[in-house]
Amino acid sequence: MSFVSKLIKRQSPLLGIDLTCTSAKLLELSRSGNRYRVENYAVAPFSPNAVIEQDIKDAEEVSSAIRAAVNISKAKASHAVIAMYNASVITNVIQMPNNFSDEELEGYVEIEANKFIPYSLDEVNLDFATIGASAQKEEFSDILVVASRRDHVEKRVDAVEDAGLTVDVVDVELYAVERCFTLISHKIPNHNENTLVAVVDIGATMTTLTILQGGKAIYNNSEVLGGRQLTEEIMQRYDLSYAKAGYAKKTGDLPEDYHSAVLEPFKGVLSQQISRLLQFFYSSGQHNKVDHILLAGGCVSINGLVDSLQEQLGIPTMVSDPFADMIISPSVNVTALNNDAPALFVACGLAMRGLQNA
Ligand SMILES: Nc1ncnc2c1ncn2[C@@H]1O[C@H](COP(=O)(O)OP(=O)(O)OP(=O)(O)O)[C@@H](O)[C@H]1O
Ligand SMILES: [Mg+2]
Repeated sequence: MSFVSKLIKRQSPLLGIDLTCTSAKLLELSRSGNRYRVENYAVAPFSPNAVIEQDIKDAEEVSSAIRAAVNISKAKASHAVIAMYNASVITNVIQMPNNFSDEELEGYVEIEANKFIPYSLDEVNLDFATIGASAQKEEFSDILVVASRRDHVEKRVDAVEDAGLTVDVVDVELYAVERCFTLISHKIPNHNENTLVAVVDIGATMTTLTILQGGKAIYNNSEVLGGRQLTEEIMQRYDLSYAKAGYAKKTGDLPEDYHSAVLEPFKGVLSQQISRLLQFFYSSGQHNKVDHILLAGGCVSINGLVDSLQEQLGIPTMVSDPFADMIISPSVNVTALNNDAPALFVACGLAMRGLQNA
């Protein structure tokens, strides 16, 4: 399973498929000169209980959403790259003597992995890649080891393969975020190897914080909180169905007291949670302030959210648009893509991985 290892040479790009708590997000990229080109994309929703806290509960529904996404997008590729969510993955960097052969390396990684993986190795998918010379030990290399429980991996792979696709690569959400950030780093003022950027992805049910230092992920954490909570508050207060509340949230077609009684308090809750996530990060290491916040996820479209977070958190905040410098194929609906762009952050990082070695 190639969480991190190099890919074998392949003929065509892979589809990036991000299975979130609410939808299957599919993105197909290609390369045009030194630019990326968006070929096809689609977002196909699940019902609210198909995936709960990132765990697939209704595999059939997830598969049919993936099938729908393939049909709507008219994607050509039939091979895909998907991601494991961060909490289901264990990563560690180990040191290995430089003079080991490939076979010795494999045995060594297994022995070392046994020390930090709380499951039997028979139950996990294990992958590793050499990062480079170790700064800690002379004549040793740093090896990144990534593991995830096999049943968790298989559940995701099966959901995609039951939709008629083949999964070639299982990536990790965190690495997809890192990769997508490479498209955006030049927009961050004075970005350099020390710059701390907090990528805050506010989705429907999860808010995920990824801290990047000079573009490398050094920390991640998430909380169960997102736009669904706002939808539920609208349902209760105005006695609307889930679908109607979700629609009204986007159009803003709600009674006069909506802003003061529902929207502003919700923004306050979001800002408190993000502040809490940042505090956890600060207390875990030697940093006490991030330089920038980069927002991703569907909730960035909430009216006034960006300014309100920037003001409450006191950190320069911007919204991510992974496609800003890309060519968009004429068959793609540009308005819809622009609306969905911040929510396609992970899907974009996956589709970029799908272009490596193609
Ligand atoms: N224009 C908009 N105004 C307000 N909320 C919006 C708008 N567009 C999308 N959203 C909200 O964004 C959320 C979906 O975001 P996103 O697609 O990033 O979530 P997800 O990745 O599917 O879920 P999760 O991250 O929880 O797994 C939903 O709650 C949706 O209602
Ligand atoms: Mg999400």
